[in-house]
Amino acid sequence: ASAGLGSEIVSVVNKLQDVFTAVGSSAAQIDLPQICVVGSQSSGKSSVLENIVGRDFLPRGSGIVTRRPLVLQLINRKPGLPQANGAIDKSGDSHANADEWGEFLHLPGEKFYDFNKIRAEIVRDTEAKTGRNAGISPQPINLRIYSPNVLTLTLVDLPGLTKVPVGDQPKDIEKQIKDMVLKYISKPACIILAVTAANQDLANSDGLKLAREVDPEGQRTIGVLTKVDLMDAGTDVVDILAGRIIPLRLGYVPVVNRGQRDIDSNKPISAALDFERDFFENHSSYKGKAQYCGTPFLARKLNVILMAHIRSSLPDIKARIQQQLQKYNIELAGLGGPMGDGNSANVVLSVITEFCSEFRTTIDGNTNDLSLNE
Ligand code: GDP
Ligand code: NA
Ligand code: MG
Repeated sequence: ASAGLGSEIVSVVNKLQDVFTAVGSSAAQIDLPQICVVGSQSSGKSSVLENIVGRDFLPRGSGIVTRRPLVLQLINRKPGLPQANGAIDKSGDSHANADEWGEFLHLPGEKFYDFNKIRAEIVRDTEAKTGRNAGISPQPINLRIYSPNVLTLTLVDLPGLTKVPVGDQPKDIEKQIKDMVLKYISKPACIILAVTAANQDLANSDGLKLAREVDPEGQRTIGVLTKVDLMDAGTDVVDILAGRIIPLRLGYVPVVNRGQRDIDSNKPISAALDFERDFFENHSSYKGKAQYCGTPFLARKLNVILMAHIRSSLPDIKARIQQQLQKYNIELAGLGGPMGDGNSANVVLSVITEFCSEFRTTIDGNTNDLSLNE
């Protein structure tokens, strides 16, 4: 899962979390922004999200597959810890990796170690709530994935924007989906992945239009161009990447996800990532900038944004810890006790300071990547 959100940032956040635990949970916490995908139906939203997570578990396919919002909470959990909250494993799966599993809010205590069964449950519960005939519902499916390899972070897969009702869809389907999507992406703490298929006209991109409504300055919108492999020979997305069509502050990332045939043949993510890398490295239009193309670069871009977010949260967290330290010291003085240097809050402060310098390169060194698109 090397294309997923990097292990470096996982260790940064883990280290901070350890510090916060030491100081007491009420003192400090990092709330990472949510990541949402928005775009037309079948533009490749679920595929992009799945590649970012680096695991196969989302229903994808032609037509309207995602019919309810999927709120996916990734939860970082150290390996080898005893099972939390006494949850029962009813899956009957052989535990290839007992440290990674999924749990649905609507099936409390039931652990899914087999990610294919996670996908099957998403499909089952979608049909249970919306029927089989293309119905949609704003009622989200809440899924948690526990793993030592993920960032504690929330990603949201959303139904695609569509105009013409089919099956059991209401007449005002366009408005209903739009309102549903807006509810998620208008939150200022949401990073928007505006997904557009590269073989479609960017000027008509529903995803970009909607993103612009809630983020006119483009401060939290990343353009993702899918299906670059399906473009007509002799055409490419170079002008879009260079910001000559619809400029975006955070730029665009071209990707190649698995096509329908790859999905039908269960092509693994790793093979798809190899194909994607070869595609960009060998294509005459992208050869020279292959490192700025593909899923790994998209994940890096997200890492940089999350790192910047963590960095900007640190002063506030530090202030809160300092406040708590002061409170403790006053309490201690009130008790007439000595203030030895074993004071845990002091230790915590020095760890944070050390942390800041240790990760300065990681945090500062990458920020230039945000403008790499040209
Ligand atoms: P969503 O409806 O936006 O969530 O799109 P999906 O992820 O379900 O993908 C819709 C269809 O497009 C599926 O058949 C995918 O295999 C296909 N697809 C998505 N991205 C790509 C891509 O980059 N290249 C190719 N060839 N097919 C893709
Ligand atoms: Na689809
Ligand atoms: Mg989808």
